[in-house]
Amino acid sequence: MRHLIEPEDLTLEEIEHLVATGMDIFNNPSNYSEVCKGKILASLFFEPSTRTKFSFDSAMMRLGGNVIGFADAETSSTKKGESLADTIRVMGYYSDIIVMRHPKEGAPKLASQYSSIPVINGGDGGHQHPTQTLTDLITIKRFKGEIGKHSVAFCGDLKYGRTVHSLIRTLARFGTKEFILVSPEELKLPESLKRQLVEKYGVELTEVLYLEEVIDKIDILYMTRIQKERFFNEADYLKLKDSFMLNRDKLKEAKPDMIIMHPLPRVNEIAYDVDDDSRAVYFEQSEMGVYIRMALITKLLEVGPYARG
Ligand code: NCD
Repeated sequence: MRHLIEPEDLTLEEIEHLVATGMDIFNNPSNYSEVCKGKILASLFFEPSTRTKFSFDSAMMRLGGNVIGFADAETSSTKKGESLADTIRVMGYYSDIIVMRHPKEGAPKLASQYSSIPVINGGDGGHQHPTQTLTDLITIKRFKGEIGKHSVAFCGDLKYGRTVHSLIRTLARFGTKEFILVSPEELKLPESLKRQLVEKYGVELTEVLYLEEVIDKIDILYMTRIQKERFFNEADYLKLKDSFMLNRDKLKEAKPDMIIMHPLPRVNEIAYDVDDDSRAVYFEQSEMGVYIRMALITKLLEVGPYARG
């Protein structure tokens, strides 16, 4: 039995295969509409979500399966003091696969140790978000053709942004050699992650304070919001919240084939006038999240293209 807690749980070959399967599902959805008939996804969200939760629900339903779960742990026995381990043990009787999001880093890992069925991490605190990484990779495949060959810039909250932490390591594994990091001093990529990127993967990191300094050098611009819920100090949040706004004016110097990604939700960091720009692909990125999650569910349940024997 396999779980997906962090992107490293998958080999590069497995990720490439998932991306290819996701593209096939995108192009031929009717071939997959019954492969999870009779299967149940438990969707356990201890933290708010729109895209991750509903794209998983939609993915399972589009595969012919069913979904149970909660979007607010206050309505579950967690409220009565039940431990995560007990909740997870029981969900193994009621469902075939679990996706969970939790504010505590490491909670999905702990859950996987008590689970009799596959557990997928739908985001744990400021730590990891492996299915967003898969979503980002299939988006890069769709719009840039190849993964690991471009100059990538991450902009915004690189300290607490779990989507950044998962994606940057995975792109380094795929061979990306150049990353540009655009963030205020207070929200820089954690030192330990920077060290790992440089020492393990030999990447070159350029850190700047302003997007304008580097916009003409970027192939893939990955925007993120300030993770207000992970700040301890409201005043710090207010000071930084509008720091890194992308607008049409800033895009004037950008490459004509650059793509603009964002895991969403956006708050203030991308002006609405950017949405009509042909380089903006963040809504298509959310769309691809359904197809890659369909591929992942079939893999972990070993059905459809991943059926054994
Ligand atoms: C991200 C998350 O939850 O980490 N959202 C998502 O899953 N698409 C990004 C964010 O909340 O900023």
